Amino acid sequence: SIFKSSEEASLSSAREIATLIKKRQAEGKHAVLGLATGSTPTRVYAELVKMHQKEGLSFKNVYTFNLDEYYPMRPDSLQSYVRFMNEHLFNHIDIPKNQVHIPDGTLPKDKVADFCREYEQKIDSLGGIDIQLLGIGRTGHIGFNEPGSSEKSFTRLVTLDQMTRIDAASDFFGEENVPRKAITMGVGSILKAKQVIMMAWGEGKARVIKKAVEGPITDQIPSSFLQKHTNCHIVLDDAASSEL
Ligand code: GLP
Repeated sequence: SIFKSSEEASLSSAREIATLIKKRQAEGKHAVLGLATGSTPTRVYAELVKMHQKEGLSFKNVYTFNLDEYYPMRPDSLQSYVRFMNEHLFNHIDIPKNQVHIPDGTLPKDKVADFCREYEQKIDSLGGIDIQLLGIGRTGHIGFNEPGSSEKSFTRLVTLDQMTRIDAASDFFGEENVPRKAITMGVGSILKAKQVIMMAWGEGKARVIKKAVEGPITDQIPSSFLQKHTNCHIVLDDAASSEL
């Protein structure tokens, strides 16, 4: 779908999420959300917070799994995705803290592989992700699945692409401060979600959106694997769709 503005587009994504949550509530069941960070989804979270505050939308039956986290990363650091999610969403809604999952950037190296395996197992044990929200990086990455990530990749420790580290430099007050690694859900983890919503705003994303949506399916543009997903909704503003 193409919207005039990212505000309208974000509202539409927030409504899809709210509809799922309410449907599951009515059935007495839980919903599992896959969540993303970055500037792209912030407005979706703001709309969900508004729905909680103004319409009483409850998140008590919601489990969340974030896509990724820098490694290493302390949760209280300015750039941590834990902090990002708390500030944009979790601090403002009624989700029980033990239902929130974010990859742990504080683990010692030898504990990371076990953590990643358990992350996948937890998702599976809850019945899988119902809706996975995604942004897209200029390298074509989803989560932190950089070019070269296989379709069958799952949660793991990865090395960040140079372009991704340049794009993150301003958040870290210089490229040299950007972590070289991250823990991310894999392309395979994302493809397992029952529904995917990938969002992109602005001219800067137009080229990579064209490659992801219309280009060949290739591990050089990991987001192109979404073409294989049978329930993937691409949500764009006018500018991000300008090369399609
Ligand atoms: C980071 C995140 C991605 C996100 C991307 C785009 O790399 N790990 O999940 O999609 O940035 O960021 P933005 O939404 O700020 O353009």
